[in-house]
Amino acid sequence: MPSSIHVQSYAKINWTLDVLFKREDGYHELRTIYQTVSLHDELKLSETTGAIEIACEDPRVPCDETNLAFKAAVLLREATGTSKGARIEIEKRIPVAAGLGGGSSNAAATLLALIRLWQIEIDERELIRIAARLGSDVPFFLIGGTALGVGRGEEVSPIEQVHCEHLLLVNPGFAVSTRDAYEKLSRLTSSEAASIIPFTLPAAKGIRELPLVARNDLEEPVLAAYPEIAEVKRRLLSLGARHALMSGSGATVFGVFDNSEMAGHAESELRAFGYWAERVRTVGRQEYHATIFQ
Ligand code: C5P
Repeated sequence: MPSSIHVQSYAKINWTLDVLFKREDGYHELRTIYQTVSLHDELKLSETTGAIEIACEDPRVPCDETNLAFKAAVLLREATGTSKGARIEIEKRIPVAAGLGGGSSNAAATLLALIRLWQIEIDERELIRIAARLGSDVPFFLIGGTALGVGRGEEVSPIEQVHCEHLLLVNPGFAVSTRDAYEKLSRLTSSEAASIIPFTLPAAKGIRELPLVARNDLEEPVLAAYPEIAEVKRRLLSLGARHALMSGSGATVFGVFDNSEMAGHAESELRAFGYWAERVRTVGRQEYHATIFQ
């Protein structure tokens, strides 16, 4: 029986994100293309006699029952009837509340790791249902790679993998609340036909035919509230990015570069300016599943 398991919990970007309309349940109907990237948190899970514990040195991460990884462990225990416990140590590298899905990724990685650690069995559909209860982005992290997300983002299907070597993630250093981003959008969105056409599928092709036709509907309200994010986009483009787009509800912006020299130059310039900046590449589904457990 494994006494502890090490997990790589990858970040995501959204190649494109279309918000169609606000639903009766308060969520927004989405069409998005998710992509896992090489930036990752490191998780170490060890079995305890019954307690669920979270340990993380990053002060922005709660170490109590509000942590999504904690909630994941509780739901998995309820679903399978096991009385086993776990200590979950999180080494944080993915910026928090940054549109990169860090908390959701940690929750999905915890589910996958606890199934191994506790040596339990769970029906695939039940696992997806638990993931969806934890958050709209969580089911995506059960599959990884490039995937289409519909519904509130929780209904995911694998699509043709997009490969991109030279991406730069840039974060201006403040958190954006996903809920606020959507609420601001609700006030701005019109119900004109043009705003409800799903652009996502043609955009999947566009990703390979850079410059992208992709867009993120959350950019308009979030950039209006945080002009610094628009500044990050401008800087990325002026440093030679072929394309720059906010990821999820922000504040992280990703830039797509043609080569490693340009991406490296932009990374040092933007760091010198005081931003958090990290070069990444896409992680395809095969690599995702081959490397999630170290
Ligand atoms: O599902 P998750 O907990 O990540 O969502 C956080 C918040 O973002 C929700 O409470 C909701 O206000 C908003 N949201 C939304 N439509 C979505 C996803 C999230 O309105 N498709």
